[in-house]
Amino acid sequence: MFKRIKVSEISENPVDMIGKKWMLISAGTADKFNMMTASWGGIGFMWNVPVAFAVIRPNRYTYEFVENRDTLTLSFFGEECRKALSLCGSKSGRDTDKVRESGLTPWFCESGAPAFEEAQTVLECRKLYSQMMTPEAFIDKSIIDKWYGDGNFHRLYALEIINAFVKG
Ligand SMILES: Cc1cc2nc3c(=O)[nH]c(=O)nc-3n(C[C@H](O)[C@H](O)[C@H](O)COP(=O)(O)O)c2cc1C
Repeated sequence: MFKRIKVSEISENPVDMIGKKWMLISAGTADKFNMMTASWGGIGFMWNVPVAFAVIRPNRYTYEFVENRDTLTLSFFGEECRKALSLCGSKSGRDTDKVRESGLTPWFCESGAPAFEEAQTVLECRKLYSQMMTPEAFIDKSIIDKWYGDGNFHRLYALEIINAFVKG
């Protein structure tokens, strides 16, 4: 149901793909996994490989799964799944069965990382680099007041895109 394409064949604008459509960050194994909605990040080229960037606050349940595995996925959906993405971005997998409540159907990549059959595009990613954001590192300090008043900084991940899948 998915076919593999080259990352360079993704024709959509990544700013809209992430910022407007949003994405699900999913990690774990078939036995236990979790997913959360994200609308901040990027897609680019670094260390001579295609990469994606994601930022995850450590209090997210998904964070534990991302930290504990080498791979994770970024899944992109059509407008018909907006409700499912809103749910995955407002409820925590700690106290909600998000698979059941969202109605999404898990699908597992070769690395074992979870994604969803309803996705239009799935990026299977391998962690390359991660670093906690720190107040000192902000050049524009107004971002701290605006987004991190509670001190709950994101961890930034640079991820190699090891496979890109689209509905085929
Ligand atoms: C549109 C949208 C975008 C979001 N983007 C991010 C993000 O980039 N990073 C993040 O840590 N949380 C983000 N969130 C919040 C998480 O999705 C939310 O806290 C979620 O309930 C976490 O679920 P979990 O505890 O099961 O991991 C976003 C939420 C929404 C609705």
